[in-house]
Amino acid sequence: MIKKSVKLLALACSATAFLQPAIAQTKKDPAMDAYINALMAKMTIDEKIGQLNLPGAGDIVTGQASNSDIAKKIREGKVGGLFNIKSLAKIRDVQRVAVEETRLKIPLLFGMDVIHGYQTTFPIPLALSCTWDMSLIEQSARIAAIEASADGINWTFSPMVDLARDPRWGRVAEGSGEDPYLGSQIAKAMVKGYQGDDLAKDNTILSCVKHFALYGAAEAGRDYHTTDMSRVRMYNEYFPPYKAAVDAGVGSVMASFNEVDGIPATGNRFLMTDVLRKQWGFKGFTVTDYTGINEMIDHGMGDLQQVSAMALRAGIHMDMVGEGFLITLKKSLQEGKVTEKQINDACRLILEAKYKLGLFTDPYRYCKEERVKRDVFTEAHRRKAREIATESFVLLKNEGKLLPLKKSGTIALIGPLGDSRENMPGTWSVATDLSKAISIREGLTKALGGKGNLLYAKGSNLVSDSLYEQRATMFGRSLNRDGRSDEQLLQEALQVAAQSDVIVAALGESSEMSGESSSRTNLDIPDVQKNLLRNLLKTGKPVVLLLLAGRPMTLTEEHQTVPAILNAWFGGSEAGDAIADVLFGDVNPSGKLSMTFPQNVGQIPIYYAHKNTGRPLGAGKWFEKFKSNYLDVTNEPLYPFGYGLSYTGFEYGNPVLSSTKLSGNQKLRISVTVTNKGDRDGKETVQLYVRDLVGSITRPVKELKGFQKIFLKAGESRTVEFVIGTNDLSFYNANLEYNWEPGEFDIMVGPNARDTKSVRISWSK
Ligand code: BGC
Repeated sequence: MIKKSVKLLALACSATAFLQPAIAQTKKDPAMDAYINALMAKMTIDEKIGQLNLPGAGDIVTGQASNSDIAKKIREGKVGGLFNIKSLAKIRDVQRVAVEETRLKIPLLFGMDVIHGYQTTFPIPLALSCTWDMSLIEQSARIAAIEASADGINWTFSPMVDLARDPRWGRVAEGSGEDPYLGSQIAKAMVKGYQGDDLAKDNTILSCVKHFALYGAAEAGRDYHTTDMSRVRMYNEYFPPYKAAVDAGVGSVMASFNEVDGIPATGNRFLMTDVLRKQWGFKGFTVTDYTGINEMIDHGMGDLQQVSAMALRAGIHMDMVGEGFLITLKKSLQEGKVTEKQINDACRLILEAKYKLGLFTDPYRYCKEERVKRDVFTEAHRRKAREIATESFVLLKNEGKLLPLKKSGTIALIGPLGDSRENMPGTWSVATDLSKAISIREGLTKALGGKGNLLYAKGSNLVSDSLYEQRATMFGRSLNRDGRSDEQLLQEALQVAAQSDVIVAALGESSEMSGESSSRTNLDIPDVQKNLLRNLLKTGKPVVLLLLAGRPMTLTEEHQTVPAILNAWFGGSEAGDAIADVLFGDVNPSGKLSMTFPQNVGQIPIYYAHKNTGRPLGAGKWFEKFKSNYLDVTNEPLYPFGYGLSYTGFEYGNPVLSSTKLSGNQKLRISVTVTNKGDRDGKETVQLYVRDLVGSITRPVKELKGFQKIFLKAGESRTVEFVIGTNDLSFYNANLEYNWEPGEFDIMVGPNARDTKSVRISWSK
């Protein structure tokens, strides 16, 4: 049974998978073509432009949709879809207006940011990526699709696959971290989870990969900021996850807010047409991000008519919120600034999506009342969310085996994040009922089941600055700022701590400290909380830092002073229970970081797959004059990519290779024996890295090329095998040709990107 799952995983994570041609995008459907040709023959130019318009839903009141402003627009044929309406009744109401009160009765698309679950909420995507378990990630997207489709939604703005190496950028929380290979596997798994094998089923929804492209490389980690990078970096590092989603058949693509090569992505023909359609064979439709067209005015690209025409010509098909298309395209057509063909092409792609979703056969396909009760926030879904959350937590430190805790004695839970339901699900949980999430306090109390005693004190506010706290707790996520002074809160906490055997300090970020428009320049645990932690440590009691975070934080001090650190990210609606599962050892943690944790902000951007430079620092050295290093801190991260501990310990043998001299299309088999040396069963993610020693362009010092997550009973050994071919060695050269180059390679295997064992091979043509 265990063997079988290892094999399956090996297949799922085959290193070559994302390079396969875009089969999923090339299916022909003559019946669909005939249907849409006939429909479009009846459409006026205004009706066609109307299909390209995607307004937000506004304040539709259930039962009164037909009187709303949006209904008026729909009746006039000016709306192709709506987004972020929650409630089946409202969706049904407006769909009825579209299919009963418009001339051509074209149904609407209903989009939503179903980013990490619907009402049942999974860990934030960055946390999900730390499971390194593609099956679980796919299941999370599947459940999200089941719940969203039961509630009227047929289109999700997910997955977000923006590679990110700057944790100052708050949106790292929404993506899968720093690595193109891991990010690509996750992109595929999520698209598959949402779209299934047939979009017309009533429980599958259209996926939208975003934000194309390079949004994660915003300068200085400031949201919406300029992006500028070389083409080789784009193609080798930042593009692969978007391409993987396209190869997996994603139905739509969202343009990013940033510019690329001086042209905002929304108006960037190189991205939207040359790369996406011509090079990758994408056949679905593209949509702007929220007011993406209008924002090109501030980017300095012209007035609304100019930027709208520019977007259409670039290859954008749907306009989110800004109505630039609606207001100006007809005029641009009359003035010869856009062609009728460009409008027709865009309209056709949107109608095709509706056709594939089965909306022309049954516009209420996703509006079946009985499904809401049956399929949303079910016990089974919540159990799965709890399981997935436990797999996403990363144990960063565990000195003297402080964890797991015993379910006895007195535990002091202290910290401003310890007793809040609203803070648990994490950023972008639009459909979650925040009041139903499980808080840490509730989770621990339930798990103790009366066998131990749990005391609680807030200990501090989120941050000392109340205005900062306001900005960081928007959208109903208040942490109920305490009016007492910092000192009063601290003294109360110390009194509670004094009565305990062990302290669990629930500290870190509020959920809205990451996500959109939540960039930070200081990634420490906020001031008052840090002070609280220092004082808790002074009590001499054992302290566990239970970290909540939407990004890698700077924990250098905590790593030195706190014996145990469990990073629980934001674990979704069931996080409180999942945290209890891991803290008490009912589940052994197995998450591994998908993003490097820096020692300090000055090291950013820091990522494992960096280049060697012409002056690399000698191995194990801190500083050498005239080498690439810092005066004040080593080059090492605090925690490397791929890192994460377990309550048990794993030992790696030396990698064994089928050959060290290969040629042409041969395959290299790499095996390594991993042993569970501890006294608990546990899971380990075995990672394979490759270094291409000499290339026609400089190559990274290490690149992830495979991984397998295995389960080992205490004392058990297992030999894990990876197979790679020349496809896995391929990269885009200076002419952007994709190929491999013969020469020497280091093959590295290990538990993270730092602690690998290496064998050198040569591979000739
Ligand atoms: C975000 C997108 C999101 C959209 C719709 C934008 O502000 O950048 O990720 O899908 O809003 O809510």
